[in-house]
Amino acid sequence: MDILFYSAQTYDVSYFNQATGDRRHRCRFLDTPLNEDSTALIKEETAICIFVNDKADAGVIRLLKEKGIRLIALRCAGFNNVDLKAAAAAGIKVVRVPAYSPHAVAEHAVALLLGLNRKIYKSYNRVRDGNFTLNGLEGFDLFGKTIGVVGTGNIGAVFCRIMLGFGCKVYAHDIYDQPELVKAGVEYTSLTTVFEKADVISLHCPLMESTRHIVNAHTIASMKRGVVLINTSRGGLVDTKAVVEALKNGHIGALGIDVYEQEEHLFFQNFSGSIIQDDVLSRLTTFPNVLVTAHQGFFTKEALTQIAEVTLRNIESFEKGEVLLNEVK
Ligand code: NAI
Repeated sequence: MDILFYSAQTYDVSYFNQATGDRRHRCRFLDTPLNEDSTALIKEETAICIFVNDKADAGVIRLLKEKGIRLIALRCAGFNNVDLKAAAAAGIKVVRVPAYSPHAVAEHAVALLLGLNRKIYKSYNRVRDGNFTLNGLEGFDLFGKTIGVVGTGNIGAVFCRIMLGFGCKVYAHDIYDQPELVKAGVEYTSLTTVFEKADVISLHCPLMESTRHIVNAHTIASMKRGVVLINTSRGGLVDTKAVVEALKNGHIGALGIDVYEQEEHLFFQNFSGSIIQDDVLSRLTTFPNVLVTAHQGFFTKEALTQIAEVTLRNIESFEKGEVLLNEVK
C-alpha cells in the first residue's frame, strides 16, 4: 500500500523501514505536520500515518477524502486529534495502536516523580559545577505516601503496580474498576477523594470533553497543600494557567509534565535558536520545582518497535478487507 507519513522524525523513518522489511509497502516520509495545506502533498497514497499533534479536523478530513485517502493510521494510542464523526461521514477508517509498552509511559511518569522529588536535575548540574553541597536537595520517602491515580487502563495499571512496589497506598479513580488491581491493593474511589487524599497525583485517563481541565483552580483547591502533580497523558487534562498560580502560591509542591496543552506548536521541534513565544510554558520552566519533558514517555526501543509493527499490521488488515481490530469509531 502507498502510505504517506506526516510529522516523521528520523527515528520514525528508521523503525518503520526496519519493520517494513520485505513487506510491499511504499512509504513516503514527510517531517511536515498534517494540516489543510499539507494535504496538497498527497500523491498516489491511499493511507496516511499520523502522530499525536497532527490535526485531522473536519476541514482536513474533507481534503483527505478529495485526495482519495481511505485510511488514517495513527501511530499512537490517543485519538483526540482526529474528528471521528467527520472521518466516518467521509468513509475514512481510523486505526490506532491501542497499547504499546504501557511500561514505557508508566516508567516515565515514575522517572518524573523521582527526578522531581530527589531533585536529580539539580544535583546533575551542581556536581558538574564542582558543587557537592546538599542544601535544597531534600526530598521525601515515597514509601508510605498516598498516590492518586486517575485512569487505570494499560498505563495507569502499570503505574499503580510500580507505586505499590514502592510501599505506597494507592487510591484510583476510573469509570471501570479493575478487579486485578483491587486484588493487588489498589483502592478505587471517587475523583474527589483521590484529589483530596493524595500526596502525589498521576493522570492516566484520555482527553475527552468530560476530562478536559479535570485539574483546575477549583479541584486544585481541594488537593493537599504541597501535592506533586504528574501528567504524562494529555496536556488538556490540566488548566495550565491555574497550575502556574498554584505553583506560585505553593499549593502545588512540584509538577512533572510530559504533555502540555499547547504542545503542538512546540514539541518534537527544535526552537533552541529562537525566542519561545508561549509565555505559559516559559513561565513554567522558570520554577525550580517543575520538570518538563517534551512528550517522550513513549520513547523506548520496545515501544517504537511495537508501534511500527502494529501500525503496519493495521494497514495490512485494512488492505485485505479484514476486521479492523484497532479501529477507532
Ligand atoms: P487506556 O485506554 O488503556 O486507559 C485509559 C483509562 O482511562 C481507561 O481505563 C478508561 O476507563 C479511563 N477513563 C476514561 N474516562 C475516565 C474518566 N473520566 N476518569 C477516569 N478514568 C477514565 O489508555 P492508556 O494506554 O493507558 O493511555 C492513557 C493515556 O496516556 C492516553 O489516553 C494518552 O493520552 C496517554 N499517552 C501518553 C503517551 C506519552 O508518550 N506521554 C504515550 C501513550 C499514551
